[in-house]
Amino acid sequence: MGEFTGRVAIVTGGANGMGERVAHTLAAGGATVVVADKDGERSKLVVAEIAEAGGDAVALPADVSEEEQVAALVDDVVRRYGRVDILDNNAAALELTAVDPDLLGVTTDVFLGTLRGNLLGPFLCTKYVLPVMLQQGAGAIVNMASVSGMAGETSLTAYGVSKAAVIQLTRATAVQYGKRGIRCNAVAPSIVLTRNTDAWAPQAVKDAYLRHNVTPYLGLPQDIAEVVAFLVSDKARYMTGHVIPVDGGLRAAHPIAADLRDT
Ligand SMILES: NC(=O)c1ccc[n+]([C@@H]2O[C@H](COP(=O)([O-])OP(=O)(O)OC[C@H]3O[C@@H](n4cnc5c(N)ncnc54)[C@H](O)[C@@H]3O)[C@@H](O)[C@H]2O)c1
Repeated sequence: MGEFTGRVAIVTGGANGMGERVAHTLAAGGATVVVADKDGERSKLVVAEIAEAGGDAVALPADVSEEEQVAALVDDVVRRYGRVDILDNNAAALELTAVDPDLLGVTTDVFLGTLRGNLLGPFLCTKYVLPVMLQQGAGAIVNMASVSGMAGETSLTAYGVSKAAVIQLTRATAVQYGKRGIRCNAVAPSIVLTRNTDAWAPQAVKDAYLRHNVTPYLGLPQDIAEVVAFLVSDKARYMTGHVIPVDGGLRAAHPIAADLRDT
């Protein structure tokens, strides 16, 4: 018996990157995992890999920024399994980070598209999953934020605003439904090496993160998956409403620490 045996988990954006690793990690712990990604083909591949490893998963493709699709997704999950125990709000419109410079440079379309892609999905998935969790009297939600939502940056304006809002969504969910058994936390990674990293982080940006990280390396998707799995497990039963930085120590360091180390 794994620690998630008998639990049903929805992982949005579960077909790639961190979501893919979360799907594998929860399935390895015994959860039945719903890979809810708009990329249906990749979702099927991830599900096949989970099955090959002895896990239980299903691909239910959906664009989580579309309300009707989220409603249909949650209906489908409840019809199949009768419950939802875990929601990992991981999907985001990362392709827009490539056209998200400083405030004067961001178009209104990119700004709104980013909010739609990064914030509306977690809002809608939480809204539709909550009634099921409330009926069960229990549920754990993890929202994928970012260090970009915790400090000002020279670019990624819309992205940072969307992730700051995801952090507030996390607090609102935790505070409003905590007494009824729902826990909600956010994870805030700094750079993690996934397929999209190159779009917004050329080598110079990766080098800058490495210089300012306290660790001698950058993050990998599994580093995040382990923390998400912990947060949705019973081991984290006394943790809710918080943002957990998983950032190689970036936010622990004094802003001039890297300069001082190099002198
Ligand atoms: N990569 C990083 O350095 C980094 C750092 C901090 C936070 N994050 C956050 O972590 C999360 C995952 O990032 P990643 O790098 O693993 O991404 P990724 O691009 O590798 O995977 C994202 C997945 O989400 C899916 N997706 C996107 N929009 C969707 C939608 N509306 N509906 C359903 N599926 C959708 C994509 O098809 C893709 O499979 C995101 O929320 C991102 O903002 C990433």
